[in-house]
Amino acid sequence: MSDRSPFFILHSDLPREGPGCRADLDKALSHITVPQNARILDAGCGPGADIAGLLAHAPQGHVTAVDGQAHFIAKVTEGWGHDARVTAIAGDMLDQTEPFDLIWSAGALYFLGIERALAEMGTRLTQGGALVFSELVYLVDDPAEELRIDCEAEYPDIGSIDRLKDRVVAAGYQIRAAFPVSDEAWEEYYTPMDARVAKLRDGASAELAKVLDEGAAEAAIWRKYKRQFGYVQIVAVKET
Ligand SMILES: C[S@@+](CC[C@H](N)C(=O)[O-])C[C@H]1O[C@@H](n2cnc3c(N)ncnc32)[C@H](O)[C@@H]1O
Repeated sequence: MSDRSPFFILHSDLPREGPGCRADLDKALSHITVPQNARILDAGCGPGADIAGLLAHAPQGHVTAVDGQAHFIAKVTEGWGHDARVTAIAGDMLDQTEPFDLIWSAGALYFLGIERALAEMGTRLTQGGALVFSELVYLVDDPAEELRIDCEAEYPDIGSIDRLKDRVVAAGYQIRAAFPVSDEAWEEYYTPMDARVAKLRDGASAELAKVLDEGAAEAAIWRKYKRQFGYVQIVAVKET
């Protein structure tokens, strides 16, 4: 993606690239013991919104923040370049093979496909290490047709929380917690997105206007159907 692509114009300067908030991070990590000096991988870190929270749980630890998009990594470097506890890497999360005490991934494992991601991340955990990730699921048995069409165009593999939990267990993990991410977490993504869409409307090219419409539509679908679908936060440890 070029720095001048309409997608980049919309997404540059957003504090995060998917739902997440500090309270949900704290809640997830309350289910495991994070060593104070934990080696942490933030896999698909985006602009780095979760790094401060991760370091709060491991003040003498180290976060390897990796994302495939160099402009997000530039943001991480801008915010954390001065801190030796953070290494920001533009590249593929699968290239990070150091064993980690905690692998954190907010909304990024689905790019790999969940089975592959679970298997690959399992080989990168220390004994007793934890994989904490969020993934889109349906929260009801009978989601509205409009929602299904919208979700399944982008996430053909979406299913229920129970199906996701079964897949995590089948991959050899023990689940310590599974909970839908909060509305606050979604608003931390969509409130700044809505503001950015409004700011960029005037004088937008046709190409940019299309991307703005898509961003606004995504937020509107979440607001309309937020009790029917959402991200679930999974906290899992690898069985020995
Ligand atoms: C939905 S965004 C979430 C970003 C961030 N975790 C947050 O919550 O703000 C998913 C991110 O995963 C990144 N990504 C997808 N596949 C990746 C891969 N194989 N290696 C590294 N990053 C990847 C994308 O570039 C994108 O920034």
